[in-house]
Amino acid sequence: INVFAWILVPCVGGASELAFLKEPNDVIAVRDRPLLLDCQVEGEGPISITWRRNGVTLPTGVRAVVLGNGTLLIRNFSKRRESNETDAGEYECAAQNRYGMLVSRKARVQLAFLPKFSSHPESVAVDEGGVARLTCQVNGIPEANITWQKDRLPLSTDDPRYTLLPNGILHITGVRRTDSGFFRCVATNIANTRYSHEAQLSVTGSKIYKEPVILSGPQNLTINVHQTAILECIATGNPRPIVSWSRLDGRSIGVEGIQVLGTGNLMISDATLQHSGVYVCSANRPGSRARRTALGRLVVQAPPEFVQWPQSVSRPAGGSAVFSCTASGAPEPHLIWLKNGKLLTPSGNVKLTNGNT
Ligand SMILES: *[C@@H]1O[C@H](CO)[C@@H](O)[C@H](O)[C@H]1NC(C)=O
Ligand SMILES: *[C@@H]1O[C@H](CO)[C@@H](O)[C@H](O)[C@H]1NC(C)=O
Ligand SMILES: *[C@@H]1O[C@H](CO)[C@@H](O)[C@H](O)[C@H]1NC(C)=O
Ligand SMILES: *[C@@H]1O[C@H](CO)[C@@H](O)[C@H](O)[C@H]1NC(C)=O
Ligand SMILES: *[C@@H]1O[C@H](CO)[C@@H](O)[C@H](O)[C@H]1NC(C)=O
Repeated sequence: INVFAWILVPCVGGASELAFLKEPNDVIAVRDRPLLLDCQVEGEGPISITWRRNGVTLPTGVRAVVLGNGTLLIRNFSKRRESNETDAGEYECAAQNRYGMLVSRKARVQLAFLPKFSSHPESVAVDEGGVARLTCQVNGIPEANITWQKDRLPLSTDDPRYTLLPNGILHITGVRRTDSGFFRCVATNIANTRYSHEAQLSVTGSKIYKEPVILSGPQNLTINVHQTAILECIATGNPRPIVSWSRLDGRSIGVEGIQVLGTGNLMISDATLQHSGVYVCSANRPGSRARRTALGRLVVQAPPEFVQWPQSVSRPAGGSAVFSCTASGAPEPHLIWLKNGKLLTPSGNVKLTNGNT
């Protein structure tokens, strides 16, 4: 059989080799709804497809079935079954024909949920003409869409003095008496909608001189290339401070894809690896050198991508076979090798050279 196999493989060409046309994607599943995970392979038949969850072969039956095209159907996604098990986990499909087995990427399947707010907005008193910052936080999967209400009515975001940052931050600049009221957050995702407690914004009259102060500076942030980074900076003082940005390494921030949101928040669209760095927000008192600064580090990552794949080879017994694989990404990807779906550890006649061959 072995001799037959190594002669047959090169003759039949690419079609006999198992290859994925579609691998399962990371998904967020909704409770009590069906979930489909794709797995499409080509290669010489017969090919059998099995699925694993957290490394264990998935029993198929009424609850979960493998469709004719390899797709896994979970009829009714459950949060918790008998024995506290959930359907969430890491799924992979394995395709087997007579030459060997190929295992797909691991697809992370999470259950959608929206917990209670982990932090609620807090009441504040702000001088007329000053700035207010209200925040709330909720850790939903998928990330919740947060909007605000003032006195139980949707907050109009047409007013340029109101800036809504993602992740539940509201800035109000040039505060007026009419801004006073009760504010709360509304969080929505596919699982639920929730309301935060209410916080009161009161506006006081004083107009005395105040040194610039940064109410909130940029957070350290890690994003992937092509995503958008928003670095927060909101400063208060009288007269109103001027906010500006620079990079700690002295390089220019540039203009392409750069926008200022509200009075001082920096938005970087379609981020590239070159955008990684430490960003400095400065708040200056107009016409003086008096200033405050705050820093935050932005890290832009690039998911791994293959540059070179292992190629199929046929060798007589006693010969050597060399497979090479390289991938790019930031940080540097870590490579592992599998043989017939099982982790291959170098030993005996299997050697790993240069970390990739
Ligand atoms: C899914 O399971 C839940 C809880 O086990 C049950 O209440 C619901 O009726 C089921 N839905 C369907 C469509 O089977
Ligand atoms: C497999 O079949 C199911 C049900 O017909 C369909 O929803 C799914 O999209 C198919 N998957 C692929 C990869 O064609
Ligand atoms: C189920 O949950 C209980 C309490 O949370 C725990 O003690 C038990 O080990 C769990 N059983 C399984 C099968 O995970
Ligand atoms: C969030 O909600 C607002 C208001 O309903 C809507 O305009 C916006 O498209 C939503 N954003 C997302 C990402 O769902
Ligand atoms: C950001 O990261 C730096 C180290 O890179 C750390 O010193 C600093 O405390 C962090 N800032 C915040 C707000 O977490």
